[in-house]
Amino acid sequence: MNKRPIIIDTDPGIDDALAIAIALFSEELDVRLITTVAGNVSLENVTFNALRLLSFFGKDVPVAKGAEFPLLAEFVDASNVHGKTGMEGYDFPAPKEELLLPDHAVNAMRRVILESPEPITLVPIAPLTNIALLFALYPEVKKNIREIVLMGGSASRGNKGVMSEFNIATDPEAAQMVFQSGVPIVMAGLDVGLKALVYPEDSEEIQKMGRVGDMAYQLFKRYRGGSFKTGLKMYDSCAVAYLLCPELFEVVETYVGVELRGSMTAGCTVVDLKGYLHQEPNARVLLDIDGEKFRKWFKQAIAKCI
Ligand code: RIB
Ligand code: CA
Repeated sequence: MNKRPIIIDTDPGIDDALAIAIALFSEELDVRLITTVAGNVSLENVTFNALRLLSFFGKDVPVAKGAEFPLLAEFVDASNVHGKTGMEGYDFPAPKEELLLPDHAVNAMRRVILESPEPITLVPIAPLTNIALLFALYPEVKKNIREIVLMGGSASRGNKGVMSEFNIATDPEAAQMVFQSGVPIVMAGLDVGLKALVYPEDSEEIQKMGRVGDMAYQLFKRYRGGSFKTGLKMYDSCAVAYLLCPELFEVVETYVGVELRGSMTAGCTVVDLKGYLHQEPNARVLLDIDGEKFRKWFKQAIAKCI
């Protein structure tokens, strides 16, 4: 079976680490490139973390560093959630520096996309700065992009602001450019991310699933995206889960805008389920998830990471 070629744009990040592992060890996905962007922590730290993860996973996927700051917004990281380095709690091997390309992420993405015989799926699980720059500089890549399956946004409440989700709110201008790009988008927002939970009993099972399971368990102990007791939120794994098990989700095709100027709502996604804005649909929004099936799927996916 032909594997689906993807590029992961990421800011590892504890939940990123698990999403990347699941993608790398799945039989269905071919991770052609990993690009990094400032988000959970600084560009230097997320890139260092991506290289350490690949060294630990034993996967030789090229990595390219991207944007150090949002397009216009002031950069505010999420080290309060992921720890200062972005991935505290586990003693990773040294980063595999030889995987780091000299190219900027945007140029590396352009090359990989235009050279691919089959359309590429972009999987951004971080602020959308790199993706916006890619489309601004090289719009010709759009013809060879199958779709964008992104973690970000919310049709309801936020986790960075009252209504805003971290990836979108960190670079709202970039997000608006991506949602207006005309490229097919699947939005895995907080509506599913907040329900994609790993409970203590799941963590105990995962710990026994070999070295990646043990790594996950150690990182979970430091992760502030939820709590060990009430459930840890696997936000980024929802994007990968959509690619591997779309039946987990309730999907609705609708219009998504990005609020840039709201005095209380800047950075939020406006998901127009009732068509008040009279705009053509530009995204498939994951509105709900079967939490129990997700837990089962997540553990089976981690068990494959050997
Ligand atoms: O809002 C959740 C998102 O913000 C996830 O991608 C997480 O890694 C953080 O980047
Ligand atoms: Ca992330």
